[in-house]
Amino acid sequence: MSIQVEDYFARETFQKMKAFADKQETPFVVIDTAMISQAYDDLRAGFEFAKVYYAVKANPAVEIIDLLKDKGSNFDIASIYELDKVMSRGVGPDQISYGNTIKKSRDIRYFYEKGVRLYATDSEADLRNIAKAAPGSKVYVRILTEGSTTADWPLSRKFGCQTDMAMDLLILARDLGLVPYGISFHVGSQQRDISVWDAAIAKVKVIFERLKEEDGIVLKLINMGGGFPANYITRTNSLETYAEEIIRFLKEDFGDELPEIILEPGRSLIANAGILVSEVVLVARKSRTAVERWGQVLRPDRNHGRSHQVPDLDREERRDGRSGHRRPYLRQRRHHVRKLQVRFAAEPGHR
Ligand SMILES: Cc1ncc(COP(=O)(O)O)c(C=O)c1O
Repeated sequence: MSIQVEDYFARETFQKMKAFADKQETPFVVIDTAMISQAYDDLRAGFEFAKVYYAVKANPAVEIIDLLKDKGSNFDIASIYELDKVMSRGVGPDQISYGNTIKKSRDIRYFYEKGVRLYATDSEADLRNIAKAAPGSKVYVRILTEGSTTADWPLSRKFGCQTDMAMDLLILARDLGLVPYGISFHVGSQQRDISVWDAAIAKVKVIFERLKEEDGIVLKLINMGGGFPANYITRTNSLETYAEEIIRFLKEDFGDELPEIILEPGRSLIANAGILVSEVVLVARKSRTAVERWGQVLRPDRNHGRSHQVPDLDREERRDGRSGHRRPYLRQRRHHVRKLQVRFAAEPGHR
């Protein structure tokens, strides 16, 4: 399937990006920060009552951190490197949540010394480390959610715990002198099924009620994570539809007196704003009889170009290649790869 990259951008934006790209050496990523700014505004307009914590792992470029800081965003941070970076741009510790549930004790201490007082957790071992290294801090527990088949990048296999465990952890948090503050979940990145939020919010409601009734713990926060859509080849519902539905789920369970709500968008803020520009450097065959050829393209990897192999040819191309019509095949393949390469998203492996 081929796509036209310009269909994904306003005409002026695309022309501006293309004019810039035409003068650069490949590979590189070009990002239009005005689109990020608009995506942030759209999210705020959709969820007026929520605080946004940008998931820095999605793209830690200082231009993006500066832009979002100036717009009043907070930041979801996963490592000491991200922490140093956002703080070096003037972000205060009260605008930061340490959202990684798997962390070293010494990193927790580092965050604490920098003034961060909001921590995610999903296991007893991590919670005990937080109690020692970041005494008195607020903690929220990340729960497992359904929806792994409808998200492009499911996250629940790696992070989160069951409801019962979440309650045990929040009680333990109180006993360890921490502030049991709330619940978080992440329905999976690029989540295409909005009803998955319904199930997650219902689980949160049960935890809020049971902890209050059975243990006198009043939770204050729901961190709804990311999962909001970017515009890829397979389209999703609009952000407005996501917002309307999710707000309806929240109100059904919590009424008009909503707890503090956090959103942690990554992909949905930045993925639409960039184009990864690459080119086919050469096409290689690995043996005389091989039916497959490999298109060698370059992909930006941090600041260095890295060679990347793109396998797979459709049957027609393969026949052309084998019957010796090399030039037409090469041209076709180049064209094909270019179109495949140009749409940029947050790195699938970014978490
Ligand atoms: C804790 C947390 N918050 C937010 C995000 C961002 O999610 P998304 O890119 O789906 O918006 C991630 C992604 O891995 C995450 O792990």
